[in-house]
Amino acid sequence: MLIEQTTVALKHFLSVEDLSDQEVLTLIRRALALKNGAQVRIPQKTHFVSNLFFEASTRTHKSFEVAENRLNFKIIPFEASTSSVQKGETLYDTILTLDALGIKTCVIRHSQEKYWQDIVRSSTINCSIINGGDGSGQHPSQCLLDLVTIYEQFGYFKGLNVVICGDLTHSRVAKSNMMMLQRLGACVHFAGPEAWYSQEEFAKYGQYIDLDERLGEMDIVMLLRVQHERHDDKESFSKEQYHQRYGLTTKRAQQLKKDAIIMHPAPVNRDVEIADSLVECKQSKIVEQMTNGVYARMAILEAILQGQDN
Ligand code: CP
Repeated sequence: MLIEQTTVALKHFLSVEDLSDQEVLTLIRRALALKNGAQVRIPQKTHFVSNLFFEASTRTHKSFEVAENRLNFKIIPFEASTSSVQKGETLYDTILTLDALGIKTCVIRHSQEKYWQDIVRSSTINCSIINGGDGSGQHPSQCLLDLVTIYEQFGYFKGLNVVICGDLTHSRVAKSNMMMLQRLGACVHFAGPEAWYSQEEFAKYGQYIDLDERLGEMDIVMLLRVQHERHDDKESFSKEQYHQRYGLTTKRAQQLKKDAIIMHPAPVNRDVEIADSLVECKQSKIVEQMTNGVYARMAILEAILQGQDN
């Protein structure tokens, strides 16, 4: 008999690949319980946390801050622009320092993929690392909040048709979600510019489709932000052309099933990935995703507390 797991204990939260299906389902259910008013598990002793965002963020950074406050963590502010990073200090040495000061958890967003490798292998550093996004690698806390949003809507994953559409090459959200959704039994599809779809990287997780042919079959339309800042070449289409060819236009949205949901990790380029008028429409879960981000991150922080030897 499978015993239902009610808590998860994690030393770090780096990539969805490190989590078992059982752990993911437990975190999802815990996030929803917290949303529905479950009592939070707070630290027994003062727990210092620092949020190190080397790339811009509103949602991830601020929802971690809200989650940390709700869990009674003490936040030690960190600004790369006024830190010794400006004197050439490496990320490893910054974390070595914060760990020595007694900071027990660091939430980090960094442009380098797998920036954590040396840190988690260190025999000196003991603090837990939560990945707030690594380059075009992984965005596991976004993945968890997306799963929470889907589970809240449907109550299951198996057999759901999901299309992940847009800037696949540069999207850490796409990479985390395609792995987890496939593992949980959803049928993953990809759409958007073919130049941003790599057969080698994506084909094992799902099928590339023409959005206009298959949109009406989808339960979940997950749009991705066009990451202009990560494109070093000249884009071959204007914003208007992208919207018309690959975006969720109001005309395309008429094909959606009545109970299909629209998702986007945000920030949204309005009238590029999605028509302005659809961002806050009834079928859109974009605002709910942001709200669920707080509860997903509370569940992650509780799991980190559980995994540390306090
Ligand atoms: N979705 C997301 O990661 O948003 P931010 O860049 O604002 O954190």
